[in-house]
Amino acid sequence: MDAKAMSGTESGREPAGGPDGQAAGQAAGPRHPALAAAVETIRAQGHAFVEPAALREAAAGRLEGEAWAAFARSWDDLRPDTYMADGGRYRLRRHAAFHAAPGGEVGRLPDRPHYQTLHHNPLNGGLERWFEPVTEEVAGGEALRALLGTARAVFDHLSPGAEWLIEMHQFRIEARGEAQGKPTPEGMHRDGVDYVLVTLIGRHNVQGGVTGIRVDGRAGEESFTLEQPLDSVLLDDHRVWHGVTPVLPLDPAQPGHRDVLVLTFRREG
Ligand SMILES: [Fe+2]
Repeated sequence: MDAKAMSGTESGREPAGGPDGQAAGQAAGPRHPALAAAVETIRAQGHAFVEPAALREAAAGRLEGEAWAAFARSWDDLRPDTYMADGGRYRLRRHAAFHAAPGGEVGRLPDRPHYQTLHHNPLNGGLERWFEPVTEEVAGGEALRALLGTARAVFDHLSPGAEWLIEMHQFRIEARGEAQGKPTPEGMHRDGVDYVLVTLIGRHNVQGGVTGIRVDGRAGEESFTLEQPLDSVLLDDHRVWHGVTPVLPLDPAQPGHRDVLVLTFRREG
């Protein structure tokens, strides 16, 4: 608690400052050491993991207790993705868009469609997809604000002075019986933005869901599994291709699911 107070996290509640307590425009990097390290790791390797403990610490209580529980519970209230070109009905989601000017607050934009080119998403791209909006309660909630600020603290330092279009995706991939759920039915891909945060919200009765990444076009994939709530990876979407293997129920008699938050950052100016 002392460390949090000393790092100024309590004063970082305004989005402009970032919940990790970093002052807007500060050049030295995010104040939390794990986030400062993530900046350097992304520069060197295109992606970085941030441990749940570091995220919680940087969020000064906003990713714990009822704030976190309410956020995670909101994944029980997603809506079917009806645009699945493979006919799959295993993906539930909600979507929201935000804008952030340099040094300014993160503000929610009016609902808009999600669009990816066919180049970036050969399966489901090439059309405007309207998804059920993220609820106001979730979009304005402490947990999301903390994660938005954390991601921004990192990405602002990788791309100084950026004006961001931020898209938020709540995803649930369901697995039932023999029916596998595919987190990335399009296969290995880029999202078509600048930076991405992927945070695991939870896994319930599922196996699989292994993330594979390929960095800088090098041969071979690196793979890892986001296992615990708040396990997170931040990546440079220009350098990193990513994909996730299907999920199947651990106990086939029961349904399972994998819940993920994705925040994409695209530089607008
Ligand atoms: Fe993706």
